[in-house]
Amino acid sequence: MASDLARARVAPLQALLLDDPVGFLSAEHARQTVLLGHLERVARAPLGRAARGLAAMLLDWLAAELPLHIEDEERSLHPRLAAHDTTGLLPGLQAQHREDRRDIRAVQDGLRRAADGEAPDPGFAAAALAFAAGHRRHLALEESAVMPLARRVLTPEALAALADEMARRRS
Ligand SMILES: [Fe+2]
Ligand SMILES: [Fe+2]
Repeated sequence: MASDLARARVAPLQALLLDDPVGFLSAEHARQTVLLGHLERVARAPLGRAARGLAAMLLDWLAAELPLHIEDEERSLHPRLAAHDTTGLLPGLQAQHREDRRDIRAVQDGLRRAADGEAPDPGFAAAALAFAAGHRRHLALEESAVMPLARRVLTPEALAALADEMARRRS
C-alpha cells in the first residue's frame, strides 16, 4: 500500500504541478484526506495488523510532505491571494497551521511507537483523532474558499510563478 501511494504521488502529481499548481494543491488535499483516514485507523488500533506500515507512512507525511505543503500555502499561495482576502480567511488558516505544527509532535511520538510495534502513550489516540478532525475542517475550508478564490483571481503569470516556486521547493 505504501508503494502504491508513493507511486500515486510521484509521477502524475509532478506533471500536474507544472501545469496547474492550484490543482496540485487540491490533489494533495485529497491525498491528505486519505492519510487522515489512516491516522484515525492507527489511533483506534495502534497495535492492529496494518498499524506499523501505516504509522511509518504517516511519519513520512508529517515530517516531509505536510511541511512543504504548508510552505507552499504560506509563502507562495497566500501572499498572492492576500489582496483579495476580504473576509480575513488567510490569517485564520495560518493560525491553524501553527496549531497543527504544535499538535503534530504528540501525534509523531505515538506514531513512532506504533511503527516500532509498541503501544503509544495513553494520550495518543485523543491527540491523533483531534488532529485529524481539525485538519479535516482545515481542508474543507481550503477547498471551499481558498481554492475557488485562487482559481478566480490568479493570473497566468501568477500561476506560473507559483508553480515555479513549488517546483523549486521539491528539486
Ligand atoms: Fe492545504
Ligand atoms: Fe493549509
